[in-house]
Formats: sequence, structure tokens, C-alpha cells
Amino acid sequence: MRGARSQQVRRRDLPLPELIERAAAPYRAAGRFAWHFARGKLRWDPVFADVLRIGLIPSGCHILDLGCGRGLLAAWLQAAQACHDEGLWPDDQPPPPQSLSLRGIDRQGRDIRCAQTLGYATAVFEEGDIYAADLGHADVAVIWDVMHFLTWDRQETILRRVKTALGPNGLLLLRIGNGRGGWRYRLSQWNDWLMAALRGQLLRRLYGRSIEGWLKTLTQLGFTVDHLPMNGTMPFANILLVARLGPGAHDRQGPVRPTPAIPTVVLSIPRDPQAGGAPL
Ligand SMILES: C[S@@+](CC[C@H](N)C(=O)[O-])C[C@H]1O[C@@H](n2cnc3c(N)ncnc32)[C@H](O)[C@@H]1O
Repeated sequence: MRGARSQQVRRRDLPLPELIERAAAPYRAAGRFAWHFARGKLRWDPVFADVLRIGLIPSGCHILDLGCGRGLLAAWLQAAQACHDEGLWPDDQPPPPQSLSLRGIDRQGRDIRCAQTLGYATAVFEEGDIYAADLGHADVAVIWDVMHFLTWDRQETILRRVKTALGPNGLLLLRIGNGRGGWRYRLSQWNDWLMAALRGQLLRRLYGRSIEGWLKTLTQLGFTVDHLPMNGTMPFANILLVARLGPGAHDRQGPVRPTPAIPTVVLSIPRDPQAGGAPL
């Protein structure tokens, strides 16, 4: 701003480099590819950091990670607890959830075996199809980038089964691609095809649906839903749906936005030079 000085006030962000290295380190035991994959995914996918910045997962809960892949969420939450315990956590951020247990299910035996090498006492990983597996009970269900691999009928069935597993006050964190996202959505589909090809798999068809369709289905099932874009710097059409059950869900939902503690927010305060630099 002309004739004005600005003062920069920085909020402290999560200790991201430390978190990423800690979360990825256990994957070394599974080989170089697994380690590099974990580091890259945690570095570029904003959902891991934003879930902590918003403070979405409460302490003491049991998490069901459906389509858990290599168990990155478990590794991430474990690293967050360790950073917090060692005093590396900024005061401006919600404390990471403590005393968690997690059950991950994925149909890729190779990924599950990789997740099992993490060796966390409070996380179990099972090979299985989330459409058929007994989901048991959970406080929080996480389904990230999985639904479009299942037919529309199966998506609906899984959501109904998740609702039953969650009980009356459960939370579902569902990340989907907005099927009406135009070229951004198509780009994320090509990314899925490419990733599958690199792993020697052939994807036949993906089953996207619009954000409006997801909201309608979840609301009909009784969830109170908020949604926020979840792409980071990638030009995709990904959205995180934060869906809650229960009579007080609307109040508990609050403003679901990562902005209150967004990465090193730089506040520019314009100052009036004639007033000796006092804020305008
Ligand atoms: C793109 S990966 C996402 C992995 C993990 N959710 C994450 O965000 O890092 C999709 C995962 O969904 C799994 N998946 C797809 N359909 C599934 C099904 N019917 N049952 C279990 N896992 C499934 C795939 O095997 C794959 O590991």
C-alpha cells in the first residue's frame, strides 16, 4: 500500500517437515518406494494437515479407516502425538487427538501388509472389501478417495452400514471428487488411472457423483454435513465432507474451516505514516 508501512504478524503452523519425516520413517522398513510414497503423499495431500488444523478428530475415539491403503492416517496421527508430547506443537493450533485406536480395512493385501509393518499397538489393519466386511463400531469413520472405485449402489450401501457402525453421535470424514468438477475432476481421474497403472493395476471404471448428490444422500441418511475444498496446490476437484450424526450435530458442527489456523497466515496491517505508524 502506497505511503503505508505494513507489519507482518505470523501465526505458527503445524511443524509440517517434522510431522512428515516422523510419519514416513516407519515405512523405511517396507522399502524405499513405500518410504518415498509416504513422504510425497503427506507432503502434497492437504487433508492430513487440515484435519489437524481444524481439530476434527476428538481424543479417545475409535477410528474406522475404510480403504486405508498403507495406513498413512495412523502414521500421521501417531507422529502428531509424538510431536505434541515433545513440545513441538504450536499453541495456536488445536492439540492433536490423543488415546486413539484405529482399524484400517483395504482390499489390497500388499498395502495392508505394508501398513502392518508400522507395528502400532493401537492400530490394526485387515485385508477385506469394505462393502462386505463387518464394520463393528466406531466413533469416527474415514473414507478418503475410495468411493469412486465402487458402484453407486455399493456407495449407498456402505454409507448406510457406516451410519449403523457409527452409532448416534458419530462423525464421518468422507473425501470425494466432485463429479461436476469439469476438467479438474477428469484430471483427478487420470491421476487415479496413472497411479493404478504404476502399481500394475487396471482401473476399468470410476463412479463419480456431484457434490449435490453426495449432500443429498448424506442428508437423507440423517447426517448434518459441511464441506470444504481439499486440494491444496493441486488442481483437482476434491472435497472433504464433514458429516455428523445426532440431535446436536448442527451445534457440534460449528464453522468447519481450516482458516482459523491456516499455514503461517501473514496478516498485513496497513499503517498511517502521518499517525506515527499506528494501525489504520
Ligand atoms: C486412492 S487410495 C486411498 C488410500 C487412503 N484412503 C489414503 O487416503 O491415503 C484408494 C484405496 O481404496 C481401496 N479400495 C477401493 N475399493 C475398496 C473396497 N471395495 N474395499 C476395500 N478397499 C478398497 C484401494 O485398495 C486403495 O487402497
